[in-house]
Amino acid sequence: MKIVLFYFSGTGNTEIVAKTWKEESEKQNIEFDLVKIEEDNFDFSRLKEYDKIGFAYPIHAFNAPENVWRYALKFPKLDETKKVFLVMVSGEYMTINHSSGEKLLRILKKRTIFLESDYHYIMPYNLVFRHTELRAFEMYDTMKKLVPIDVKKYLVEGVPNFTKKHHLVGWFIFLLRIEQWFSGANGKSFKIDTKKCIKCMKCVNNCPTKNIEFVDGKFKFNNRCLCCTRCSFNCPVDAFNIGLLNGWRVNKPYMFKKPDFEEVDKHPLYCKNSYKRYYKEAAEKIQNSEKI
Ligand SMILES: Cc1cc2nc3c(=O)[nH]c(=O)nc-3n(C[C@H](O)[C@H](O)[C@H](O)COP(=O)(O)O)c2cc1C
Ligand code: SF4
Ligand code: SF4
Repeated sequence: MKIVLFYFSGTGNTEIVAKTWKEESEKQNIEFDLVKIEEDNFDFSRLKEYDKIGFAYPIHAFNAPENVWRYALKFPKLDETKKVFLVMVSGEYMTINHSSGEKLLRILKKRTIFLESDYHYIMPYNLVFRHTELRAFEMYDTMKKLVPIDVKKYLVEGVPNFTKKHHLVGWFIFLLRIEQWFSGANGKSFKIDTKKCIKCMKCVNNCPTKNIEFVDGKFKFNNRCLCCTRCSFNCPVDAFNIGLLNGWRVNKPYMFKKPDFEEVDKHPLYCKNSYKRYYKEAAEKIQNSEKI
């Protein structure tokens, strides 16, 4: 069994999940290649080597980010059919998120690559508000327990997973793809607080679309932004202003360790029921796997 998982991650959450899929697959003696979409160095003639193809991405406005589905447009039409699995990563366990791969799947289908299985893991927000370290750790810890079960079930036992979907959300999701146009326009309005900025150039060097340039001592922003928030999230001095979304800016990577300090959860009621459902379903899955 040989697998390839193409992934994009704005601020590292999807990358952690994708690497966990690789680690757990390799424990099961499955050959597993990870391909970072933004590096754009994959030789597509190698696709035929793989038994299954995966795509992992963070959900942006209930959709796969634009660079993810655009990447699929580069896939050649294959002589044989292939199966694809989706690894979706988001901040909320809302059913609408499960349809986020619609456009990506439509593109793949034209290339005779069909959906076989999909997964949705909750990881902390990189936009809107900052989850507490405790909640971020709970999300991480749950994902770390779920992935080995999912890998074993799907890649070893051959049993696919299907996230629950509402079949009427297609139009809504289509309309929300306006976020992709908005991101490009909003990315042009980013600003940097030059009093705070220490010119580390992390934002310039790490932007997946090369949207930020430093020319003649000045930062310049283009219209290629994906709103992945990598620049503002990782700025060491929180000097980044993300335009119209600045009120939702989240800065600083999460620890993904159980905190040894108290922190007030300012959003205890936010998506309370969907989180409750996620943890309940996860606990059942973990418990059932322990019984076997
Ligand atoms: C522009 C943008 C839009 C987002 N939209 C959603 C969304 O529709 N639903 C959701 O649950 N999370 C949403 N999120 C949260 C991310 O999916 C979540 O934080 C994810 O873990 C980020 O993964 P990454 O670190 O791999 O980029 C959004 C984040 C960004 C930056
Ligand atoms: S990451 Fe922050 S400190 Fe570094 S160059 Fe960019 S704005 Fe300045
Ligand atoms: S400018 Fe920032 S938010 Fe936009 S694509 Fe680059 S790193 Fe991501």
